[in-house]
Amino acid sequence: EKGGWSSFMAKEVSEEPEAVANTVRGRVHDGQVVIPELEGLDDLFTGIRRIIVVACGTAAYAGQTGKYALEQWTRIPTDVELAHEFRYRDPVIGEDTLVVSISQSGETMDTLMAVKYAREQGAKTLSICNTQGATIPRESDAVVYTHAGPEVAVASTKAFVAQITALYLLGLHVARLRGSLDADAAAQAVAELEAVPEKIQLVLENEQQHIEQFSRWMADTQSVLFLGRHVGYPIALEGALKLKEISYIHAEGFAAGELKHGPIALVEPGQPVFVIVPSPRHSGELHKKVVSNIQEIRARGARVIVVAEEGDAAVLPFADEVLRIPLADPLFEPLLAVVPLHIFAMGLSTAKGLDVDKPRNLAKSVTVE
Ligand code: BG6
Repeated sequence: EKGGWSSFMAKEVSEEPEAVANTVRGRVHDGQVVIPELEGLDDLFTGIRRIIVVACGTAAYAGQTGKYALEQWTRIPTDVELAHEFRYRDPVIGEDTLVVSISQSGETMDTLMAVKYAREQGAKTLSICNTQGATIPRESDAVVYTHAGPEVAVASTKAFVAQITALYLLGLHVARLRGSLDADAAAQAVAELEAVPEKIQLVLENEQQHIEQFSRWMADTQSVLFLGRHVGYPIALEGALKLKEISYIHAEGFAAGELKHGPIALVEPGQPVFVIVPSPRHSGELHKKVVSNIQEIRARGARVIVVAEEGDAAVLPFADEVLRIPLADPLFEPLLAVVPLHIFAMGLSTAKGLDVDKPRNLAKSVTVE
């Protein structure tokens, strides 16, 4: 039941902190990640040379987000592929490949067929799933459940943050088995993960009203662009997908570095652009580069809405709206940066008088190919 909430989605966004906390619970022992469901399954991880994540929709963006941490912590090359594309291109897979599927429902036919195909080719399969006993986990060698609780709104929100959390746990579990991450770094990652629920709660408390307010002014907006870089890139894609799903407007996510290679041609005066700004503490000067992207679009009249960490003053001169997220290690920022985007999609959908929970033409779980 949706209780006092205006929609299931509003309730489910408010449950994002718990979705993360409940997914972590019981999987950290003495500061190390040990996933009980994977006990006795070390063989799945020791001989592999490659990870391929398969999923659809929001779950695929969770996969794209998780790829950065998986590779960094396990040093296993990781690719993410849309499940429905995967088996139609004769992929090079075998017993040294771990295929990780992600599905909230565990019933998405496209994802299920990708898992079956992977098994037939001799790959190892692990399912990240939110629904106990669903078909995909039953067809897989192993399962790591997300504990987001039942998700009713068609557009996925709390399951998304739980999926990223599960991928991070998986990464830390595998890194421990393979000795690919030093103990301090692993302990630091665990501490960051455990701090996420409280930080999401802060984003909800500090920004929800602000976002709802400006989404009301934007009710007639025809198109919104989202820019992000590194882990902010899949978050830009997720922000755009959410808007397509429940607001029915044109929305696109881009890697900020790609801007000059094409998308900047789209920017005309008044065009709203969300920019997910990497932390200034991020390596590789990404912050500076994204701030200069903001200047470029602003010079062309874009209406710039930035999602930036607290205290980042460099964005202030160029932003029409600033949405703040608490400080976190860069790999954990996406779990915070996505929250304002979920709230915005809901706000715009509501401002347009649409059914937030049951968007036209979509189903919660698509059980046909
Ligand atoms: C789509 C849903 O059809 O399937 C999306 O509308 C969802 O919200 C996607 O992200 C994948 O679903 P699942 O259950 O496999 O995570």
